Amino acid sequence: MFDPPNPPQDNVASALPFGQPRHGGNPNVYVATSGVPVPRPRVPAPVNTAPPIWLLGDPVNHSLSPRFQNAALRHLGLPNTYRTRHTPASELADAVDAIRRGVAMGANVTLPHKRAVGAHLDGLATLATRAGAVNTIVAEGERLTGHNTDVTGLLRALSRWFVEGSPRTALLLGAGGAARGALLALERLGVEEVWIANRTSDAARALARELDTDMALHVGRARCDLVIHTTSLGVGTVPDTAEHHKAAEVWSDTPWAPWVYDVCYSAEGPTPFLAAAHAAGVTHRLDGLTMLVHQGADSLELWTGQPAPRELMLDAVGVGDD
Ligand code: ATR
Repeated sequence: MFDPPNPPQDNVASALPFGQPRHGGNPNVYVATSGVPVPRPRVPAPVNTAPPIWLLGDPVNHSLSPRFQNAALRHLGLPNTYRTRHTPASELADAVDAIRRGVAMGANVTLPHKRAVGAHLDGLATLATRAGAVNTIVAEGERLTGHNTDVTGLLRALSRWFVEGSPRTALLLGAGGAARGALLALERLGVEEVWIANRTSDAARALARELDTDMALHVGRARCDLVIHTTSLGVGTVPDTAEHHKAAEVWSDTPWAPWVYDVCYSAEGPTPFLAAAHAAGVTHRLDGLTMLVHQGADSLELWTGQPAPRELMLDAVGVGDD
């Protein structure tokens, strides 16, 4: 029987697997018997070939979505990751096409593409059609459907306050895209009457006229059971700055309600609108972070077909759901 010879003592490749870390205690450096320090061979990390889920928008870098979506994907034991994909308008069609080809398993869509993306898809869910906006793309094979979970996310965020029964009336501040989505959430919540107040009252009138709903819509302000703020005034301002105070001041004469929701959120502290509500003594105040997490959770359920771990997702961005 032929016994292979012992490896020569200075054969680094053969000596390495049996070597002991002896180079200053650094476990990644081995000393071969020749006395020459050599790096430990790296075992390549397994490549994650699972298609990611994208967030398409411009800008997207500031987004908190990867934080709670990746926490949820790990919790569900799924190999996919959630990634921002910076997408200027000129690249939107290509990005959608890549999803159709299976490069990504689905996507969220954020500003400025929520309206435009629908034209690139194969179908729209009813809520997306009514909201005139898509924030979620779901792929079934090559067929892409647009959904709107901003509406259902807001509904879930509000529903925690109203387990005993729906508010009857609501005051909606703003008349843009977010206001339209908020109206659909209010409709699902069971609200019967909504007052829409907007800086440009023509826009409020147009929204009240165009939305097909059984709710009674009025233009103007009235004291209601619930107030929802959807304007972009003061977005991005930092508490205790002149700009923040100025934005809060605009809302000081709001006819407040027991419950006040702001679809905007701020990582820095209260939004100007919620600062004004606090100053006025409103106790039930919530910002748009809860809506953001719930819209993400609703999207995750559409992509995976599994129940989203909502508490874990809320915890991942530091919000308790009251
Ligand atoms: P979004 O999709 O976020 O709703 P949008 O459609 O551009 O954005 O709507 C922005 C909303 O914020 C509108 O209701 C806008 O009021 P106008 O219709 O009068 O423009 C409101 N808004 C923006 N800046 C504002 C400001 N400085 N004061 C009051 N409302 C403001």
